[in-house]
Amino acid sequence: MSQLSVVGTGVIGNGWISRALANGWDVVAFDPAPDAEVRTRAFVANAWHALEKDGLAEGASVDRLRFAATLEEAVVGADLIQENVPERLPLKQEILSAIDAAAEEHVVIGSSTSGFKPTDLQQDCKKAPG
Ligand SMILES: NC(=O)c1ccc[n+]([C@@H]2O[C@H](COP(=O)([O-])OP(=O)(O)OC[C@H]3O[C@@H](n4cnc5c(N)ncnc54)[C@H](O)[C@@H]3O)[C@@H](O)[C@H]2O)c1
Repeated sequence: MSQLSVVGTGVIGNGWISRALANGWDVVAFDPAPDAEVRTRAFVANAWHALEKDGLAEGASVDRLRFAATLEEAVVGADLIQENVPERLPLKQEILSAIDAAAEEHVVIGSSTSGFKPTDLQQDCKKAPG
């Protein structure tokens, strides 16, 4: 079983969450918006009918989704971490740096950026390859 950790659960984060759940992954999410969990669970429930039609992986379940209280808690145990915060470079740099500091070694960290370069996104990350 694999775990996706999702930081930022808006339009794109919820898409990642739905796909990962449909593929039988465990998902741990973090988003500071007070209504984030309610919004995400409604999004996933709505998407689930279409995902069922496409075919769910064995063991796939919406019950594999959990929300964490902090970013640091959300990334524990992750095989893949996906950042999906708004498209503002200083914010993405801050969040990616925090993810990098909290993540275990060798975990792949992805960004759903629309256009920033990896070199700029990871400038404050200590574990990123040079
Ligand atoms: N919407 C699209 O069609 C689209 C397509 C491709 C790429 N993208 C990119 O995906 C990224 C996310 O876009 P979106 O449309 O999902 O935005 P969105 O505004 O729907 O969602 C952003 C989420 O990030 C959360 N957030 C804000 N600050 C945070 C923090 N400090 N920690 C954790 N979460 C935080 C917000 O509460 C919100 O839920 C952007 O970089 C965007 O450019 C968007």
